[in-house]
Order: sequence, then C-alpha cells, then structure tokens
Amino acid sequence: MATAKEMVKEATANAAPAPNSAVQKLAPYKQGKSEAEGHEDPIKLSSNESPHGPSPLAIKAHHDAGNRLFRYPDGAQVDLRSAIGDVFSLDPARIVCGNGSEELQLLLVRAYLSPGDEVIVSEHSFVMGKIHALAQGATVVTAPEPNYHADVDEIIGRITPATRMIMLASPNNPIGDYIRRNDFVRLVENTPSSVIIVYDGAYADYVTAPDYDPGFSIVDWAPNVVVTRTFSKIYGLAGMRIGWLYCDPVVMDPVQRIRTPFNANIAALAAAEAGVRDTKYTDKVRSHNALWLKRIKKELTALGLFVFPTVANFYLIRFSETGPHTAKKAARFLMNSGIIPRPVNAGGPNDCLRITVGLDYENEAVLEVLTEFMSAEN
Ligand SMILES: Cc1ncc(COP(=O)(O)O)c(C=O)c1O
Repeated sequence: MATAKEMVKEATANAAPAPNSAVQKLAPYKQGKSEAEGHEDPIKLSSNESPHGPSPLAIKAHHDAGNRLFRYPDGAQVDLRSAIGDVFSLDPARIVCGNGSEELQLLLVRAYLSPGDEVIVSEHSFVMGKIHALAQGATVVTAPEPNYHADVDEIIGRITPATRMIMLASPNNPIGDYIRRNDFVRLVENTPSSVIIVYDGAYADYVTAPDYDPGFSIVDWAPNVVVTRTFSKIYGLAGMRIGWLYCDPVVMDPVQRIRTPFNANIAALAAAEAGVRDTKYTDKVRSHNALWLKRIKKELTALGLFVFPTVANFYLIRFSETGPHTAKKAARFLMNSGIIPRPVNAGGPNDCLRITVGLDYENEAVLEVLTEFMSAEN
C-alpha cells in the first residue's frame, strides 16, 4: 500500500504550483537589448541610462561603503533623505527611499489597491506600474495620450467610484513629452482627494521647460499626490537600484508599514547621497542633454524623419510604415553599425525607435548612420 507521502507525490506529479490568477495573465518584462552581433563594445542607447555614469564623488562614496558592507544599512535612510531635502528644499520627513522608484510604485500599489479596484494608467506611463496593479488584482483602465503627453480630460473622464489610483509619468516614456503645470493642477483639482495620483518624475531632472512642475509644491496642498523620482537616470546609478518618493505623511504611513526596513542597500544610499549633493555634475549632464536634443531633432527632421517632442534623455523617431525606411530596417542598420536602439510600438505597427542621448561620439555616430540609412535603398 502507498504511504501518504507517496500518494501526495503521485497526485501532484503532473500539476505545477499555480501562481495567483492575476499573475498568471502577466507578460514578462522585456529589457532593452545590450548586445549587437559582431560588435564587442556596442553603443548601447536602449535603456535611457546616463552615458556619463555617476558623479566621481558618488563612485568614491560607493567604494568607501565597501568597508561597511558587513553592517545593515540605515533603515531610516536619514543621510540620503536629508541630502535630497537639502538639494530640492524638501522636508526629509516626507521622503522615502527604495530599491529604484519602481519598488516605491510597487509599495504604493500594494498599500492602496485591492482586487477589483480601478487604476487609471495614462498611456505612456512606466510599464511596471501597470504590471504591479494587475498583479494586485486591480483593473487597469488606460487613458490615451493623444497629444503625446498625459491628457487631463482623458483621465478625468475615466474616474469612477471604483477608482483608487491614477498613474502618470511626466516626462512620459517612450515619447519624452510632459504634462504642463496648468494641466496637472487641473487634473489634481478634478480628482477626488481619496484617489492617489502617482506622478512619476523619473526623467524630471532633465527638464528645462519653465512650465514643467516637479510636483513637490502640489503635494503640499493636495495630499493625495505622490511624486516618485529615481537615481537611475541623470545620476547614472541605474545599476545601484535607488529611488525616492515625496508624499504627505498620512499617505506615507501604510507604505512604511509594508516597506522592508533595509530596502535601500548601504552602497546605494552612500552613492546616491554623494551623487545628489554634486549638483555641478548634474547641471553638466543636464546641459549636455539639452544641447544634444536640440541638435538631434534639427538634423533628423532635416532627413525627413519625425521626432516626437521630448524633454527627457531620449527621443522617439517615427519611420515609414512601409518601403525602404521602416523602423525595423533602421534598427537593423543601426545594430549592424554597433548602435543599439529600442524598438517601440508608439504610434503604429513597429514604426518607431527610441534612442537615448549618448556621449558626443555616440550621438555623432547615430546621426551619421541614420543619414546613411535614409539615403540608402535598403
Ligand atoms: C517613466 C519611468 N519611470 C520609472 C522608471 C524606473 O526607474 P527605476 O530605475 O528607479 O526603478 C523608468 C525606467 O526606465 C521609467 O522610464
């Protein structure tokens, strides 16, 4: 006779453990490519990382942290929160740091969404926000962005009594355009105060437009607004996984209850603190980006390509849907030249490529290769 253990083993032999039904429906996240066949050291412009790397002071702080790796990090994140507070003139008590802004968005979703709740996700916001909400069993309602950035009326028109959260990125991704201050204020004014608005500013540090609002002062009169920021972009610390949020203490409370105490590691905290304090370095990276965006847009437009409006550290190019100059052919042409872009489906079937602003020689290479591509019969 079979033992109980053997019976369980037989009964489960053909059945794999099943994830929760919401998770089962998710498609896995696809990272930007980092290899180009035949090129040992390709120009990687597929993930909006900073080609400049972090500030030398951040690298030093990271090395110095090596001596303290046997210690747990400061779970209260005091030094980094006060550095962010100093640089952005914010109250450190309203800041929480995390393992990338992506983790902070996950914590917000877990703290505020229950199965069946509705979350309005603006069309070109960060894809992980949507994935977290779906995994939580929430219903995702997408608000289109007909003017290339979050659209207040499209969002407001989708608010129902079941709406618990709104997620938008400004600048958005993969376009790089931003919601204007007046429009954002109008959105906040027309959203019930019980609905959390997650305002994702991953690319905010690059923006030089005067009518962009980083959202911090809005949190002060609208406690349902949460701003998320990252060290992955202008601070060049994508590999460290460190980001932060700014919000009202009442909204923060449930996030703190579920945050694991050591979610930001000791090396990341140290590097980010030194990086954020090196404002001269950040200014230099921002200026480089703004100069190149202007030149790139001008030169690509002269080639007959459409470049979407952008204030971030990347630009989205629309190619022809058919003929010799499709995005697919352009991607192959760039890859064959050792340049890695990010193909995206922003305005039609596979007709766009998103490219990160690189170092001088990298941007020159992109312009040269695309000029050659547009004059070739492919
Ligand atoms: C709009 C947007 N938000 C958030 C993130 C993620 O940032 P982090 O590296 O801090 O998780 C990205 C990453 O590309 C992004 O594009």
